[in-house]
Amino acid sequence: KMRKKIVAGNWKMNENLQEGIALAKEINEACAADKPNCGVIVCTPFIHLAKVAEVLDQNFVALGAENCADKEKGAYTGEVSAAMVKSTGAQYVILGHSERRQYYHETAEILKEKVQLALANGLKVIFCCGETLEEREANKQNEVVKAELDGSVFNLSAEEWKNIVLAYEPIWAIGTGKTATSDQAEEMLAYIRSIVAEKYGKEAAEDTTILYGGSCKPGNAKELFAKPDIDGGLIGGASLKCADFKAIIDAW
Ligand code: G3H
Repeated sequence: KMRKKIVAGNWKMNENLQEGIALAKEINEACAADKPNCGVIVCTPFIHLAKVAEVLDQNFVALGAENCADKEKGAYTGEVSAAMVKSTGAQYVILGHSERRQYYHETAEILKEKVQLALANGLKVIFCCGETLEEREANKQNEVVKAELDGSVFNLSAEEWKNIVLAYEPIWAIGTGKTATSDQAEEMLAYIRSIVAEKYGKEAAEDTTILYGGSCKPGNAKELFAKPDIDGGLIGGASLKCADFKAIIDAW
């Protein structure tokens, strides 16, 4: 595969500041001692970003946020803007995670705003999509994923698209220990690549990094990454232990 391969950790709402700094240091040291064969990204809660930026060598381990606001600036108490995220030294932001859609009611329209603001502020976006178990059982996974992309990122220009990484995460596989089989994951990622090709052309689709997420761990990473359309993983639980995260990185 010529396109960029990525293993990205998503800490979600875990680790206090001191624990987060310690974990970031450990990951940075592991990657500096034994250079990864892929891009590595660590996505942390907002409060960790500035401090973690100080301990990461972003030549090996890039920093990302897990979210940003859908407004540019101003009277939005408790929100953190894309510009603020960027100013910490972060290079990426995860948007469209199913937990944000489900628990914080982020709609396609809201996500479209967030994506635009993130890109306008020089961040790269890891944009997530994926279906529920009911949707998969009704064989609606393709249309659900297509609608999520149509609603929030397929409006972007070809130039903007270069800063998008996609992540397919079947909701039924997140934190459940239930991984999509490598064939199920490959089938969906190949479908996603085909609809990217319809929008942006075959070459852009071939260059787009598409990740799989959902109970990806040391034991299944190799099999997943061996699939032609799977360009890496978005890792939740297993990104909280340096040894597990590094083992997934080493699956490349
Ligand atoms: O963003 C990460 C995904 O939601 C996967 O989480 O690896 O804990 O299943 P998980």
